[in-house]
Amino acid sequence: LNGPNLNMLGVREPGIYGTVDYEGMVNFVKEGCAAIGVETEFYQSNHEGSLVDAIQSALGLYDGIVINPGAYTHTSIAILDALKAVALPAAEVHISDVTKREPFRQISYAGMACQVHVIGQGIAGYVQAAAQLKAQIEQDGEPENYLCHGDLNQHHILLAEENEMAVIEFNRMHRGVQVEDLYHFTRKIL
Ligand code: DQA
Repeated sequence: LNGPNLNMLGVREPGIYGTVDYEGMVNFVKEGCAAIGVETEFYQSNHEGSLVDAIQSALGLYDGIVINPGAYTHTSIAILDALKAVALPAAEVHISDVTKREPFRQISYAGMACQVHVIGQGIAGYVQAAAQLKAQIEQDGEPENYLCHGDLNQHHILLAEENEMAVIEFNRMHRGVQVEDLYHFTRKIL
């Protein structure tokens, strides 16, 4: 996920952000991630709410989020809250070394909801972040309270059937179970 002005890569302050354009960066990251077995999808927006929407809709669809929120890094509690709300494993990336730049770049709200931080590594940082996130997800494994499909009981099924939010919450808790799968499964055993 890329925030404002990252669509201007290659044109924008090349001394800081490099000469590769947005499309070049996407291809580079896509290939780098494919080489380490990570499938990627990309989204860029200059609008805070669109980034919040994208984070929310990642729930149940993706194993993790790699985000460079651009300037919203330093201002957006809404992006922080969205990352906390979906609670997906998340990595923060900054192309430039923000730690050596202006004082107003020294706070990262989004970073407070991220387990991985890759800063100042250029566009290679996106691939490094994906690799670290993958390693962490593999190491952490499933959450302790993970239930496989077979562990679903009548209570879960009723909850799921009654209230779609319950299904979504169930899916969030039991990472990897897709909402559709749960519906099919409940239909089958009912
Ligand atoms: C950035 C750093 C931010 O401070 C800046 O506003 C950006 C890009 C980076 O990738 O280095 O837009 O996130």
